[in-house]
Amino acid sequence: MPVVAGKEKLKILIRRAAIQKRVREVAHQITKDFAGQRVHLIGVLKGACIFLSDLVREINLETSIDFIAVSSYGKNKESSGQVRLLKDLDSSIEGLNVIVVEDILDTGITLTYLLRVLEQRKPKSLRIAALLDKPSRRIKQVKADYIGFQIPNDFVVGYGLDYAERYRNLKDVCILTLPE
Ligand code: IMP
Ligand code: MG
Repeated sequence: MPVVAGKEKLKILIRRAAIQKRVREVAHQITKDFAGQRVHLIGVLKGACIFLSDLVREINLETSIDFIAVSSYGKNKESSGQVRLLKDLDSSIEGLNVIVVEDILDTGITLTYLLRVLEQRKPKSLRIAALLDKPSRRIKQVKADYIGFQIPNDFVVGYGLDYAERYRNLKDVCILTLPE
C-alpha cells in the first residue's frame, strides 16, 4: 500500500492493469496513424514522464523523445491560469511529427499555450496524447487526438500525477481527498 500523508485519503479510480491495456491501445493507434514515419514525443514535465515511458515502448515506429516543462499548480489544486515556460526543448522540431504527451487535460490552459509555442516552430504535424481528460473542467477549447481515459471532476494522483510533488509513484490513478 502507498504511504499516505497525514489525513489524506486515496481511492483507486483506474487500476494499473487497465492503464497498461489502454496505453498499449493508444500506442497501437499512433503506430497505425504514422505507419512508416518517425514520431517525436514531447513529454510535459513532470507529470507525463511515466505515461511517456510506457507509451514510447509500445510504439512500433522510429521514435525520438524530448521534454518541456511549464509552470504548474504548485501546492494548490487549482490552476493559476498563467503558464510560463520553465524548461525548453533540447532540439528543433521543424519538419517532425510531434506528439505532445500530457498527464491530464483539465482546463486546457497549459496545452493551448504549448500548442501556440510549438506551432511557431514548424513541425510537420502536431498532435496531443493525454492519459486523462476532464472535459467538464475545460476553459480553453482544446481537444486531444489520443486520450487514455475520460474522468469525472475529481483531483487525481498517481502514475506520474502529483499533489504538491507527492504520489507520482502510485501504480494506479487514485482520487485524492484532503482533510477538511
Ligand atoms: P490544465 O492547464 O488546467 O489543462 O492543467 C494541466 C495540468 O494541471 C496537468 O498537466 C497537471 O499537472 C495539472 N492537473 C490538472 N488536474 C490535475 C489532477 O486532477 N491531479 C493532478 N494534477 C492535475
Ligand atoms: Mg502537476
